[in-house]
This record gives sequence, C-alpha cells and structure tokens, in this order.
Amino acid sequence: MDLSSSTLCPQNLTKPYFISFHKQPHIRSHLQFQTPPKTLTLDPKFTITGGCKLSGHVPISGSKNSALSILAATLCCSGTSKLHGVPNLSDTRTMASILRSLGAEIEACNGEMWVNADGVGSVEPCPEDIGKIRGGFFVIGPLLARFGEAVVALPGGCDIGTRPVDLYIRGLRALGAIVELGDGKVRAQAANGRGLVGGRFKLDHPSVGATETLMMAACMADGVTVLSNVAKEPEVIDLARFLTGSGACVEGAGSDTLYIKGKNQLHGSECVVPPDRIEAGTFMLAAAITRSSISMSPVIPSHVACLIDKLLAAGCKITCAHDTLEVSAVPDDVGHNLQGFDVRTCPFPGFPTDLQPQTMVLLTTCDGSSIVEETVFENRMGHVRELQKLGARIRVCGSTAVICGKEKGSALLSSHVVAKDLRGGVSLVLAGLAAEGVTEISGIAHIDRGYENLDAKLRLLGADIKRLIPLASPL
Ligand code: UD1
Repeated sequence: MDLSSSTLCPQNLTKPYFISFHKQPHIRSHLQFQTPPKTLTLDPKFTITGGCKLSGHVPISGSKNSALSILAATLCCSGTSKLHGVPNLSDTRTMASILRSLGAEIEACNGEMWVNADGVGSVEPCPEDIGKIRGGFFVIGPLLARFGEAVVALPGGCDIGTRPVDLYIRGLRALGAIVELGDGKVRAQAANGRGLVGGRFKLDHPSVGATETLMMAACMADGVTVLSNVAKEPEVIDLARFLTGSGACVEGAGSDTLYIKGKNQLHGSECVVPPDRIEAGTFMLAAAITRSSISMSPVIPSHVACLIDKLLAAGCKITCAHDTLEVSAVPDDVGHNLQGFDVRTCPFPGFPTDLQPQTMVLLTTCDGSSIVEETVFENRMGHVRELQKLGARIRVCGSTAVICGKEKGSALLSSHVVAKDLRGGVSLVLAGLAAEGVTEISGIAHIDRGYENLDAKLRLLGADIKRLIPLASPL
C-alpha cells in the first residue's frame, strides 16, 4: 500500500468527524515542532474493523524515551548537537517546546534535530509543558549542573502510579544541591553558589529517570560521582553514549553502578537515536494477536529478548537477521493455538512494564489462564476495565491480573472504549485488530504521545484502521 496515495474520500465523511489519511502521508514525516492546528487539539478517535490479517514489513521509529533524555542532555552542551532518528511524537514536540522555553534554539526536519543551548537564559522551563510529560523533569539535572540553579514544576506523564521524585531530590542533594519542594515546583541550587560536587548515592529502586537525571548532573559536577543500584535499561546506555560523545566521562552504563568524572564543559555532538524497543514489541504482539506474520526493522533483538522468549514459549515462530525481526503466528506455520504464559514485569533486563497491557491482550486469545503481575508501577491496570468492555475476561487483585484465554471465556468483541494512558491505549488498538466488528477508541492523544504514525503503519500492514478527526465548530 502506497501511503502517499491515500486520499480523503468524501463518502467517508461522517459528521462531526472526518476521516483523515492525508494527515500522515509518509511513515517518516517531516517533524513539525509547531503548535498543531486547532482542530487537532479536539479529541480524535480510531475506528478499527477487526479480523484483518497483517502482513509485510513495518519500519520501527527512534526510541521515544532515549530521544527525551538525550534532548534534555543537549542542555549540558556548548555548540550544536545533531540528533538523527528523533520520532515525531507529541512527547518529543513537548520536549522541544520545553528546551525552547529555556532559550535553546531548535531546528527539526525529517527525523533530524539540531539543538543549540548556548543562548539558554532561564532556569525555569514552561511549567505547563513539564506537566505534560515525565521526561520533562529530567532537565533539572543539566540545568543545575550548568547554571547552579533550577526551578522545575512537578512532572506529568501517564497516570499509572504516584510516581514521586524523591530519588531525584535525594540524589541531587548527594551532589551538593539544596533542594526544596513547594507550590508544585522543585527548587534546586548548588550550595554556596558554587557548582555541584561529585558524591556517592545509592538509589532505593533502579529508577530510569532518576538514574538519567543524576548521570547528567554528575557529568558537570566537580570530582567523581558513584551512583549505585542504577537502572540498566538500554535508554540509560544510549544517554551515556551521547554524553561520552559530548566529552563526558561515564563508565558502567548497563551495569548496577555508574562512575562519572565531572568535566567543566561538554560540547555538542552527533548521535543516532536507537530503535524504540517498546514500539517493536507492540508490533511483535500485534502479529501474534492477529495470528499473522510480519517483519520489522530496525530492531535490536537483545532489547526485546524477554518478549521473544515469551512468544516462542507461546508457540510463535521468530527469526532474526541483522536488525530485522520476523514474527509469525499464522496457524499454518505454528499448527495450533498459542499457549498462554505468565508475566512478571521488572526493571531491565526483566519483562518491560511498558509492554504489560499489550501482552495482556495476547493472553486473552491464547489457550489456558495466565497471570500478569505488575511490579514496577502500583496502578498500571487501568486498561483492564476497557478490555473487559471488549469481552476480555480478566480478574484483577491489587497488582496481579488473572487472564482467561479464549476457551476459558474471553472473546474479543467490538465496543466503544477510551484510552486512559499511552500503553494501555495501544493495547485497545491491538484488541480492536482482533475483535469481531468495529471498535471505536477515543482518547487517542495518549497513544500519539508515544507511537509515530501508528495508524498509518498498521494500514501499511493491511489493518482496517481509520483516524477520525473532529471538525472544529464554526466560530
Ligand atoms: C521511565 C519511562 C517509562 C517506563 C519506566 C519504567 C521515560 C520518559 N519513561 O519512566 O516509559 O515505564 O521508565 O521502565 O523514560 N520511583 C520512586 N521515586 C522516584 C522515581 C521513581 O519511587 O524518585 C518509582 C516510580 O514510582 C515507579 C518506579 O520507581 O514505581 C519506576 O519508575 P522509573 O523507573 O523512575 O520510571 P520513569 O523514569 O518515570
């Protein structure tokens, strides 16, 4: 299917919504880091006619979470940083807006982004933008390291738990900052007007964001910093690679302990944002849920190793060649229905919490009953109610869910459901692909935060999914 030839069909007009194919004509669209037109701020919807088999190849975009932390790190650098493969998402656009609110200059085109933070003259980023995404809060580290001061509003992001910032605060204090929390803002200042100083800090929990924020702060602190019990996620390694390329001295990324020797100054550098492992995992699960066969690239197989193991155990066929991964769950290939499996989410290299809702959908289509235990976020079961509306038989007790497979009573049927957060929202899309009838999903702004052209990519694979955009009322 040639996406660029998709046109707006007048017969598809359904008031007060219209169906938009032309909004996303290319998989790699130009990055437009501007305020979207008013119509797009209204609540768009997806409608999905389930039952289509998927086939073909899908391109995987750059990692959202890596892009967000690397963008924050450009604040540490003098001169221009050039990033390739930045996904065009509302979250990356919000991050660009946060950097601009501080005085950084940004240009973006076709997945490339140039950031120059030489003109940064403020230490207080736009609080409204910080309130939209968790990653916005990460700028507290670079700002404090470079200017000795930062005032950052408490962050937003998906409503999946209390998501405190205590580890950030205690970690920054260990680097010599005076940090206070009040009026919804964190105010931090390097003690006695001097810069940060190297120190030792052990995280109670390997928080990804706290690890990244403290790593950025320590890169410009005076002396050596040792951070232990840190996150080992690939995104932490991506950030360390960017910082090292910019002149920082970071060792141990990917292990439990980071050793960082502070430098007075970092310089802009060039980097490629690695592929998004959660997007790849979502498409792998889409293939399994629809009993289809698709390939995708680029993928770093070790980043999705946990999911590969589970899908193999369920009965899928998976092949990897270089950076291309193929997943088949076609009955002719696998010969029987897929078998359910249990999942316990954990920090990397464990099963990613960001794939938990999508995996739950697959389990409703498998044989047997399965147990999903969420251990990273205390309130990440919000999608279950919506999946139940689609016919999923799931029982939740605290952070554990028991999922009945197909012959135990789950039967995905169409309904109108609402996306309440990013990954829970995309799980509804996957359920809609397998459900009988037409599923309508509202609240898809949550999904647009983290999936670049999701509907266009699914159409490329043969799915029947439409984006309905409300028409603005006449003034
Ligand atoms: C990042 C990812 C998110 C992913 C998560 C876990 C970004 C922008 N987001 O989120 O997609 O789901 O990692 O892989 O990179 N915690 C505290 N105190 C703190 C910090 C965290 O108690 O100061 C707790 C959180 O409430 C949560 C757990 O630690 O229960 C893990 O959170 P964390 O790893 O920090 O996730 P984020 O960095 O917010």
